[in-house]
Amino acid sequence: MTSHKPSIGILTSGGDCPGLNAVIRASVIAGERLGYSCVGFLRGYEGLVDPVDYMPLTRGNTSGILTLGGTILGSTNRGRFSATVGEDQRISIDPALLRGVADTVRQLGICGLVCIGGDGSLAISEQFHRHGIPVVGVPKTIDNDLGATAFTFGFDSAVSTATDALDRLRTTAASHERIMVLEVMGRHAGWIALHAGIAGGADVILLPEIGWTFDSVCRKIADREAAGRRHSLVVVAEGASLPTGDLVCVTATGAQEQVKLGGIGQVVAAEIARRLDRQTRTVVLGHLQRGGNPTTFDRVLATEFGVLAVQMIHEGRFGEMVCYRPPEIESVPIATAIASLSRVQPHGTSVRAARGLGICFGDAS
Ligand code: F6P
Repeated sequence: MTSHKPSIGILTSGGDCPGLNAVIRASVIAGERLGYSCVGFLRGYEGLVDPVDYMPLTRGNTSGILTLGGTILGSTNRGRFSATVGEDQRISIDPALLRGVADTVRQLGICGLVCIGGDGSLAISEQFHRHGIPVVGVPKTIDNDLGATAFTFGFDSAVSTATDALDRLRTTAASHERIMVLEVMGRHAGWIALHAGIAGGADVILLPEIGWTFDSVCRKIADREAAGRRHSLVVVAEGASLPTGDLVCVTATGAQEQVKLGGIGQVVAAEIARRLDRQTRTVVLGHLQRGGNPTTFDRVLATEFGVLAVQMIHEGRFGEMVCYRPPEIESVPIATAIASLSRVQPHGTSVRAARGLGICFGDAS
């Protein structure tokens, strides 16, 4: 490094989402204004060790990335750091890797690391903090499943994409009098399905958080038909269990690996077709929800997160994660943040509003 300024390190870890580059840009601008130089570690935590892989980040080379999807630093969610979960439910990282990170931080004169990630990646940051590595966390994920923040950036963009898909499906569903089933991401949280379903005027929304039956779903579609509405939109979260209690997964995975969800849309569509003798079609939105430009909301949230993360490093507030507690951007200990995951509340205001519109969740009510 040629610079003698204190440095801030930035990395993006886990599945990407719109808004990562907005955080990077905001951190660099805020950092430079406070007298820091910035470096970006490549491919998440991997770039911190053996071989150390990073790039200088300046206002020049981050100019124009505010609106850009993905991450200019790259990311990985199955690297050497995503190690095993111990008996105390804490992940344990190879001590040699932790020593390597501490060496990198010392050798590059890094006074603080901005780690941008979801719950798994933040659990790694928390281990860094416990080992004296100066870190602050920034929550990202399209799933919006972190309890400590009202919203993660990336979520609004994913919902916007899913809503656009529903808008498009509605017209073709109406033309052909079909039942369209849209499968959306979200892992074990139904936030994307719920918000997109409401925004896109879905007739049925199936969530991981609310048990459902095919009887109830088909009754809703049949009732619509009886009222002359011969097309219906069904949104199903990838993490919704079948009435049998089974998750639908793309691949069987080992006990230590994260389940890879996917395929429930097809199962739901096939059963509706069988029971009602109607044409159904399935769309699996997949990674379209993760790609592309961030919405204005996500740009603002990501920017505010990035600026506060740098201010926290400046003030020595390590081991904390920025969070959104409307109307303020605040911070919480990373340990607290990863201890509480957020799920749709079956009796919360959004579900109640949806029920008030007659949207069916496939349950008895
Ligand atoms: O956590 C974000 C997410 O997009 C989930 O909604 C989805 O289940 C998963 O990541 C997909 O992961 P991958 O990109 O590894 O297929």
